[in-house]
Amino acid sequence: MEAVTPREVSVQDEAVDKSTFKKCNQIAFYRRQKLLHPGKSSYRALLESVTLSDENVKFQIIHEENKVLLQVEICEIEGNIFRLKIDEASPLRARYKVRDVLIKEPTTQRLFISQNEGGILVLSSVNEDYKLQVIANPFQVELQSKGETILSMNSNGLLYFEHLQPPPSDRYTVAFARLFLFMQETQEDLGLWQEKFGSFLDIKAHGPSSVGVDFSLRGYDHVYGIPQHTEGLLLKNTSDGDAYRLYNLDIFGHKIHDKIGIYGSVPLLLAHKPNRTSGIFWLNSSETLVDISTKAVAEHGLSGSAAETAKQKAVPLTDVRWMSESGIIDVFLLMGPTAFDVFKQFAQLTGTQALPPLFSLGYHQCRWNYEDEQDVKAVDAGFDEHDIPYDVIWLDIEHTDGKRYFTWDKKKFQNPRKMQEHLRKKKRKLVIIVDPHIKVDPKYTLYSQAKDKGYFVKDRNGQDFEGICWPGSSCYLDFTNPEVRKWYADQFAFKTYKGSTNILFVWNDMNEPSVFKGAELTMQKDAVHYNNWEHREVHNLYGFYQQMATAEGLIKRSSGKERPFVLTRSFFAGSQKYGAVWTGDNTADWSYLKISIPMLLTNSMAGISFCGADVGGFIGDPEPELLVRWYQAGAYQPFFRGHSNMESKRREPWLFGEKNTQIIREAIKERYVLLPYLYTLFYRAHTAAEPVMRPLWVEFPGNIETFGVENEYMLGNALLVHPVTEKDAKAVSVLLPGSAEVRMNIYTVTFQTILPWLCFLQIPVFQRGGTVIPLKTTAGKSTEWMVDTSYELHVALDTEASAIGELYLDDGHSFQYLHKKQFLYRKFTFHKSILSSSCRDESGQYQTMCVVERVIVLGFGHQPTFVTACSKGNELTSVLLQYFEIPLPCCHLLQVAN
Ligand code: GLC
Repeated sequence: MEAVTPREVSVQDEAVDKSTFKKCNQIAFYRRQKLLHPGKSSYRALLESVTLSDENVKFQIIHEENKVLLQVEICEIEGNIFRLKIDEASPLRARYKVRDVLIKEPTTQRLFISQNEGGILVLSSVNEDYKLQVIANPFQVELQSKGETILSMNSNGLLYFEHLQPPPSDRYTVAFARLFLFMQETQEDLGLWQEKFGSFLDIKAHGPSSVGVDFSLRGYDHVYGIPQHTEGLLLKNTSDGDAYRLYNLDIFGHKIHDKIGIYGSVPLLLAHKPNRTSGIFWLNSSETLVDISTKAVAEHGLSGSAAETAKQKAVPLTDVRWMSESGIIDVFLLMGPTAFDVFKQFAQLTGTQALPPLFSLGYHQCRWNYEDEQDVKAVDAGFDEHDIPYDVIWLDIEHTDGKRYFTWDKKKFQNPRKMQEHLRKKKRKLVIIVDPHIKVDPKYTLYSQAKDKGYFVKDRNGQDFEGICWPGSSCYLDFTNPEVRKWYADQFAFKTYKGSTNILFVWNDMNEPSVFKGAELTMQKDAVHYNNWEHREVHNLYGFYQQMATAEGLIKRSSGKERPFVLTRSFFAGSQKYGAVWTGDNTADWSYLKISIPMLLTNSMAGISFCGADVGGFIGDPEPELLVRWYQAGAYQPFFRGHSNMESKRREPWLFGEKNTQIIREAIKERYVLLPYLYTLFYRAHTAAEPVMRPLWVEFPGNIETFGVENEYMLGNALLVHPVTEKDAKAVSVLLPGSAEVRMNIYTVTFQTILPWLCFLQIPVFQRGGTVIPLKTTAGKSTEWMVDTSYELHVALDTEASAIGELYLDDGHSFQYLHKKQFLYRKFTFHKSILSSSCRDESGQYQTMCVVERVIVLGFGHQPTFVTACSKGNELTSVLLQYFEIPLPCCHLLQVAN
């Protein structure tokens, strides 16, 4: 079949058609689980079966009706994490357990049994801070910290576990087979052995295998996380049929405020109350639904009558019910107690954000498509002509020979190496797209090799699974197979990937995987992967594995020396280790600009710091004001890329008149000047799991007014950003939370109105008192042009006239920071009118010619009588101190002069 032409792109447009995607009640395992209502659980723990080892505590539970035994395993992992696993005691065949997501087998700590009588088992942690109380009948687990109940599991009796059964044909004689089929027909609603959706039939070779359980989070009424949805920051209460869905899907022009899963899934939920943050990480890669219900209950006892509840002091309680189609229950309880502890705990399990090469924090210019080599050169030159910095130009699917990835369209890209040499001279990079589907074409080496080696996912009949995607008929590489990943990684070797150079980096798209005419535009769940696992078990991991293999390929081609850059659309817990993520096909509309903030905050809290949304909106044509505001917002978000659909008009930043070009230029330049701060934040994300972009409540955990704020956020701990997301905005109201001694302040920033366009110039960004941020004194043409540009420090004083901050720097591209400790990590302290620079990490060494050229002190109460600079060594010491006294509405947060 021929490549899908742009006209046929409408195949994908159909995705907007709601009937293409399931509603929750069209999902059989959801309907089955929903037959179980809150109440007394049918499970009873057999506490006489308890065994204790250094690693864990094990016991069995029994279902009172079907008598099936489940094995429960509980362990404590160092760093305030508890893990609970529930699997069948003797399953008919092994159930799928997620691989490759945990960075290592977690180090466990011995639990102690402090009680096992009267139907109650009490387990204590080494330091006795935590106690796990297992109640036998009905089975329930309660986790307490110093006497305070944090959460309980199965207190609503929603533990649900479908044990594997032999297929009907084995269980019934031929005489009963007909009767069974008849019964099955009438039971089709439950979708036990097969499930229909439209014209699609999912045959469940291993029958029903759904698992689920409920958690009650005591005292919490603010819950966050479980990306990715086009939704607000705070998770909302779900009603029947409206659960949050975690199922990676390609939804072109996804709707705003929808709980359907788009592109990626991270089954991590965070709960916050003023003195504590906790997390629940549900390690399951099959389709998952999450019900949320927040209510108030009586202070004593979780289940009082309504009248009792009304009399007593009410405390909030959030019930979270997880339901997965398959696999086992493997859940990590992250006990914080702070949000930053929860981020660390999650990173301890799944890894931290990869440290991006510095260029990838610059501005990226993308479009579907930059037509040919001339177009690339012209766009590149346009940036110089208009004095706009940028680092990377991107090539979408049209650069290939008929959507055969790793090839070039020979007419449009006759000399790709030469084109890259041109970009290299300009100190810029190229990113090209590599999707996971492979065109069915025996003459295409990648296809024929993969076919011969048996590297494609199979259909239920054992043939290579074929689906339609951009190239027409395509097969899908089975990235769950380590051998396929190795082979795929090798495709990026310079000698194999003709026309590639070391300035070429990669974009993995359509990796949910997207299958145009497939059920819900993805792969049939009964397709078969490596080791005979059905696609239903690993669906949410497909994109994760592709990005893993790609990142490994880029590292390998450099003999392990260079950091990779890989952008992926689909992701799972742990994808942060392999690169960046973007939010997919958004629309050029104000509402999508607005929702990008909570979406990026949610991804960031789930470990994925390097995330962004298409600037301008992918679908449609943004009006100039929207485009300008989007650039201003994007300049302060981690991944900053302008991108547009092939049917939208060209939108390079200089196409909207001189005034708008000027404002976009300013926004992009602000980004480049900010890079030392941003890079330092990424180092902290990489080493300490601190999200680069974070909700206000994370920085002000005791301040309840911040808990639901999603129109502004913190970039690191120092900058508060409130992007303008309304058309014709003349002013924005900014919430400036202060420390305990400084009251909250709502500050209205009014834009200049005399020259209407000038009001665009302002991006409401505030620096928090008590912080020092490192900047570059000026922006260059790209990050590489700025290597020797001097630094500038912005010191914003707190009420004690003090401030601290830091700067991380290294060569910006290699792994030498890791292997050879070639980095500088400086600490700046302003105290008693003295600004000092000291070493933050003695183990690092790096030579730089850069100096701090200017220091701006904000909030200094009076004109200094004199300023001196003391020099020690030769780095970062040449100081020119400038003094600014800025009148401020709030003494704890200070406005950046921008
Ligand atoms: C998908 C991507 C989009 C890309 C297009 C063509 O829709 O989300 O970013 O431009 O495919 O490759």
